[in-house]
Amino acid sequence: MTLRLTTLCDNLAGSLGYLAEWGLSILVEYGEETILLDTGGTDSVVRNAIQNGINLDQVTRIVLSHGHKDHTGGLRHVLQIMDSKKRQVILHPEAWASKYASRSEPVGSDMHYIGIPYVREELEHLGATFTMSRKPIWINDQIVVTGEVPMKTSFESVEKNLFVKIGEDYIPDPIPDDQALVVKTSKGLVVVLGCAHHGMINTLLYAQKITGEERIYAVVGGTHLFRAGPEQLKQTIAKLEEFNVAHIGVSHCTGMPASMALMQYFKNRFFFNHVGKIMEF
Ligand SMILES: [Fe+2]
Ligand SMILES: [Fe+2]
Repeated sequence: MTLRLTTLCDNLAGSLGYLAEWGLSILVEYGEETILLDTGGTDSVVRNAIQNGINLDQVTRIVLSHGHKDHTGGLRHVLQIMDSKKRQVILHPEAWASKYASRSEPVGSDMHYIGIPYVREELEHLGATFTMSRKPIWINDQIVVTGEVPMKTSFESVEKNLFVKIGEDYIPDPIPDDQALVVKTSKGLVVVLGCAHHGMINTLLYAQKITGEERIYAVVGGTHLFRAGPEQLKQTIAKLEEFNVAHIGVSHCTGMPASMALMQYFKNRFFFNHVGKIMEF
């Protein structure tokens, strides 16, 4: 059975006619399931799906990797153009937290809202039915949404400029809602990352643990390496090599310097996973 991934939102547009934006969305087609992992930040997913000849009505369910709006802001647009069938939306309960980022020095001196830009009732009115879990959710025998990813490695950490607003206070956001989609194929795991706020390698280690499958065939999506220092990059490359990953298709929050380092090391095992990219495994 072929696993087909199509990138519908990314920071880079792969060819003429596609829209790029800071965000991520990947369509995952495997057997009976057509799952949309994340929805980008605006309506670019809808436009890019049309450009790609994809009818989003075929989507069986939506998985949200976390509550940041560059992954959830397209949800209203996606639901609006789907037929009126109810759609399951899988997410971690903390994805609904009131999330903020500080982008200036000193950290905390400015706060920007970056959480889900909708109220739940509006999305339910458009057909969304929410399934919330901190634990892995198996969609079928081969496809699992990881739930909360444990922090295990010494070289990965959650950024310090992210907060949750509780009352009038901003407290550091450990982003417990960060999760990935994992497909068990005959060649090994294909791990589709959203933003990997808990670390690309932590996510791969957890994917191995919950599936009982050691082989990681491919990893695609946002790796959150755009602020990684040389040590994290070195250790990440070493672990990917140890896992013997055959295909590494980075997107979104990987950033150019980390992408270049991965490309130089992994050569033809590496690819840019930009809008319009279709991957078959
Ligand atoms: Fe994020
Ligand atoms: Fe992101």
